[in-house]
Amino acid sequence: MAAVTTAAVDAVSSPDLELAKQTSALTVQETTPEAGTETKTAQLPPHRSHDPQYNMKRSDPFMFGSRYLDQGDDVFEFNAWDHVETDDAYKEYSEQQFAMQRASPVSEFDKNRFNSDPARFWNLFYKNNTANFFKNRKWLQQEFPVLHRVTAEDAGPQIVLEVGAGAGNTAFPILANNKNPKLKVHACDFSKKAVEVMRSHAEYNTDLMQADVWDVASEELPPGVEENTVDVVLMIFIFSALSPLQWEQAVRNIHRVLKPGGEVCFRDYGRGDLAQVRFKKGRYLEENFYIRGDGTRVYFFEKDELARIWSGVFKAGAPTNENNNETCDNAPDSLPQEPSTTKEPQLFDVEELGVDRRMLVNRAKRLKMYRCWMQGRFRKK
Ligand SMILES: C[S@@+](CC[C@H](N)C(=O)[O-])C[C@H]1O[C@@H](n2cnc3c(N)ncnc32)[C@H](O)[C@@H]1O
Repeated sequence: MAAVTTAAVDAVSSPDLELAKQTSALTVQETTPEAGTETKTAQLPPHRSHDPQYNMKRSDPFMFGSRYLDQGDDVFEFNAWDHVETDDAYKEYSEQQFAMQRASPVSEFDKNRFNSDPARFWNLFYKNNTANFFKNRKWLQQEFPVLHRVTAEDAGPQIVLEVGAGAGNTAFPILANNKNPKLKVHACDFSKKAVEVMRSHAEYNTDLMQADVWDVASEELPPGVEENTVDVVLMIFIFSALSPLQWEQAVRNIHRVLKPGGEVCFRDYGRGDLAQVRFKKGRYLEENFYIRGDGTRVYFFEKDELARIWSGVFKAGAPTNENNNETCDNAPDSLPQEPSTTKEPQLFDVEELGVDRRMLVNRAKRLKMYRCWMQGRFRKK
């Protein structure tokens, strides 16, 4: 993985659409200057330029993540900064928000309503948001190089399973870049409507792809997928949709389908992300777990928690690594995972787990806002 660059900002093909639009609107990318423009850029590095001629389309990730905030910089000079620490004011504001959220939780009646049939709310989501589904995730292969390997012409038979595939925002870009005639992509989602959307996509090609309904937290394996056969599992903003009570079954299912040595590519929300901080009263289900306005659920992860879960330690309070107790508020950008110190059997090696943070600035209101995502690669032992 490319040390968690901030390439992968399109966090959201999810219900977080408003926030995604805001992120997109505030994000400016930079490129290197064209020939003949060196004199101008010699005074101002191109990655710091305001000139729109240096801005690339948002979908090109390669120069993303290069606008670092240096000492003495005016934060409000630009509208987005990469690899930043949250400031004390934001931390304090977040804690106040969390206290307010905890004090006004979702009623027991509603908790039951949202937890008893989560697929219903995702079906509604996919019914209502057809126009917003498709994104071109060019950052995928950059962040998860294993996708280069399995899609290479001579890679031979390779099976990729995407869990919680939604509208296929990950599966279709993989197919679009695929040169391997022996690749098979299983794209599963527990929402029937999402599976319908994938099956009706113009690029749905049953020689290479199979979209099916599957609940990752069920007792079954996905249709047509045998134990110990999958090379790569993709989990992009799906784990956050599960209740903490479902984590163990989901991780065990993923472990079951993967070949020994097979890899999980993971990206999801981090604790302290703006999407969490701005939840209002009546949205709190339990710590770090919320219900959105459309009835879909979302969890915000801490780094040590993810390391613990994927190592196969499901009891809270049993950290696998004392140095790993980090949230978006204090974690360095990307840390290699150290070995577990617990005696419990390990399911996965945490090969990489990093925090991807980005500061957005509303220059008009002189407000600083932080997005935060967790990204990792876990290998079946
Ligand atoms: C935030 S969306 C992400 C969709 C897609 N991975 C993407 O990044 O565009 C979460 C997806 O997880 C699916 N999902 C939620 N719980 C699930 C479960 N238990 N099993 C399988 N899919 C689930 C939802 O239907 C939804 O499509």
